[in-house]
Amino acid sequence: MRAKVTVVGAGNVGATCALEVARRDYADVVLVDIVKNFPQGKALDMNQAAAVIGFQSTITGTNGYDETEGSEVVVITAGVPRKPGMSRDDLVTTNQNIVASVTKEIVKRSPKAIIIVVSNPLDAMCHVARAISKLPKERVFGMAGILDTARFSAFIAFETGMSIQDVKAMVLGGHGDQMVPVVSATTVGGVPLQQLVPQKKIDAMVERTRKGGGEIVNLLGTSAWYAPGAAAAQMVESIVLDQKRVLPCTAYLEGEYGVKNLYMGVPVVLGASGIEKIVKLTLSADEKKMMKASSAAVADVVKVLKAK
Ligand code: LAC
Repeated sequence: MRAKVTVVGAGNVGATCALEVARRDYADVVLVDIVKNFPQGKALDMNQAAAVIGFQSTITGTNGYDETEGSEVVVITAGVPRKPGMSRDDLVTTNQNIVASVTKEIVKRSPKAIIIVVSNPLDAMCHVARAISKLPKERVFGMAGILDTARFSAFIAFETGMSIQDVKAMVLGGHGDQMVPVVSATTVGGVPLQQLVPQKKIDAMVERTRKGGGEIVNLLGTSAWYAPGAAAAQMVESIVLDQKRVLPCTAYLEGEYGVKNLYMGVPVVLGASGIEKIVKLTLSADEKKMMKASSAAVADVVKVLKAK
């Protein structure tokens, strides 16, 4: 039997994630959205794509939650995206309410699910999903680090002319402009980035990565979806297939990396039970400082939540 994976939000990110999961053929996907006919239409289109791409998974579109019952993994992408000029943090009030109500519906029908939060502001929305679901921290976490790392990796591939497949990068911290590209742990084909690219250019790539989401919002008028959708699907895969991939995810920290009681991006082992381990990495003094600044920025947004 295939696993059941639910994706809430049939917008660009949710739909991309749903297709990326379905085409891998190990999970049937339930796509939920409040807009009438919208998830049904997208699901029908994807089921027809199956004939061409060649997969047997089915996609069910629905405006309710009954079809989500017994999901192994639930990806929450619901919420409003950024428009030009907005930061992710500007979305906090609207998306807090949406993520809270979605989480309630989900845990009612899938009390043992693993929840992957994608809605922004990401780190704060993980706090909402955890508080409402009351699930253990290993089962509620967020997608951001894979996306931020993918952006850094793409810039490195552009700059070096080397295959993106050989870039091993890592971006940690909160999913905001203070995120922490860990240059000391970044290599291409095993060669440290600092031996391949002059520092000035690395600094420019780091800066571009930090503003990477905004660059796309400015080009498109809304936020990105191909890389975010694929990144969420990679997390689903590592869980459903118990791959134990080491991926940067937004995890609840209780002292790791010097951060307490806050969701932040760190490398984790992702398997059938969710976050199976937080991997510790020694950061340079500079990177430690940046982690601190990033956690302060996340804490500021989380404080806004608590005020409600
Ligand atoms: C981005 C949004 C999805 O970084 O947060 O593109």
